[in-house]
Amino acid sequence: MSYKTREWRNSMRVTVDYNNMMSKFLGEKGIKDFELRAVKDEAEAAFNYVKANRGRDELFMGWTELPYNQDEIVADILATAKEVRKNFKYFVVLGIGGSALGPIMAFNALCHLHYNELPQSKRKGPKFYVEDNVDPVRMAALLDVIEPDKTCFNVISKSGATSETMTQYLIISDILKKAGVDVAKNMIFTTDAAKGNLNKIDASLGGKVKKYILPDGVGGRFSELCPVGLLPAAVLGIDIKGMLAGAAYMDALCSKPQISKNPALACAALQYITMKQGKNINVLMPYSDNLKLMADWYCQLWAESLGKAVDYEGKVVNAGTTPVKSLGVTDQHSQVQLYTEGPYDKVITFISVGQYATEMPIPHGCEDIPDVGFLGGHTMQELIQAENKATAYALMIAGRMNYTINLPEVNAFTLGQLMFLLELQTAYTGAMLNINTFNQPGVENGKKATFALLGKKGYEGQKAQMDAAPEIDDKYIV
Ligand code: PA5
Repeated sequence: MSYKTREWRNSMRVTVDYNNMMSKFLGEKGIKDFELRAVKDEAEAAFNYVKANRGRDELFMGWTELPYNQDEIVADILATAKEVRKNFKYFVVLGIGGSALGPIMAFNALCHLHYNELPQSKRKGPKFYVEDNVDPVRMAALLDVIEPDKTCFNVISKSGATSETMTQYLIISDILKKAGVDVAKNMIFTTDAAKGNLNKIDASLGGKVKKYILPDGVGGRFSELCPVGLLPAAVLGIDIKGMLAGAAYMDALCSKPQISKNPALACAALQYITMKQGKNINVLMPYSDNLKLMADWYCQLWAESLGKAVDYEGKVVNAGTTPVKSLGVTDQHSQVQLYTEGPYDKVITFISVGQYATEMPIPHGCEDIPDVGFLGGHTMQELIQAENKATAYALMIAGRMNYTINLPEVNAFTLGQLMFLLELQTAYTGAMLNINTFNQPGVENGKKATFALLGKKGYEGQKAQMDAAPEIDDKYIV
């Protein structure tokens, strides 16, 4: 690894503190050491399963190798990003699910929080938008603020058959064509190597679209560290080599089969134990506006990976816990009441930051009003960190399980670590549950029903089935 010095990397190590999960702090409500020991073999088996299947495309485990096998792609992406920055005023990602949540998350984490409002001289790249819905109001709003001919559209879709993304493509390409613009010049496709409709579309455009490959063995929700996420990040001037180095660093930190020596395995074991206790809600609560959308990205990773009807033996297990996104300190004034006094059905994961990118001193003032005066002379970092500690403490005192992922600061290297930690945690948990972590059969039924409703050829049977459903009963409409 040639990323900065070893000392720097070690100073940026992401750690997990799970004291507040344990009976030492929570008493009867906490996990006892023997309970952790009791899942030791299952955790080790999960570790061995993930290790043995690393990189296997047919199992959708190609993501484990992304930190190591992309030197050429990274060089190409950096060159393309430079061209995009030179030639375009706007960069728009068209994608959904795994093709969108990663790019938005990295943008939020590593760019100015009001990036698009900054003057061009203060931005590293073009204005940036990720369109991950088919709400017509949103599409119209986008078209109000971009100039399509000066926009690079990155269409990200493995299948090229996702209705939402392809609808966006149809609208944008129509606008470009009508404006006399060569569609291929304003497009970059990130898609399957050979299969998929975007390859056909490229061929119809003369094979001139710049394309990046979404590797075979990498599913959407595990794709942020391949061109899906790397290209948009590079266009924004994000240090993508740093992100990959961070992922590799976390991979090395997770190379042992013992819970006490592998942070992702520790998190997986904690989630697994608490799941078995019936704790069905898994809250991710970063204390950082930069990591707000990390919680969105994580919700998809966790929900789509672990929400499964059957295990590998075909036994009905209805696995999974419900991920909830929360933001510190904002949601202290919204959800923490429930976390502290509601049902004992949650595990709260905090993400804490050691050093925020900016410091903001709190001036003295209002000395005669004690409720306000005490704040003067502190800093906003002190306040947010104190509130983070205080919330963890209050939950602990109330017997509520919580643990903390500590980031020394939010940068490309620590973000890469955090992503890989959460990906490994998800893979280990899925292996402990003996389920297929990497498929998403439950999403298909909704897709098929949409096709049927919109009259797609081949879905007549589905349409007939839907028509045969009971008539809507007015008595249930109020
Ligand atoms: O995680 C996933 O696999 C999904 O969220 C997909 O990324 C999403 O459905 C988009 O699929 P596609 O890339 O084929 O457009």
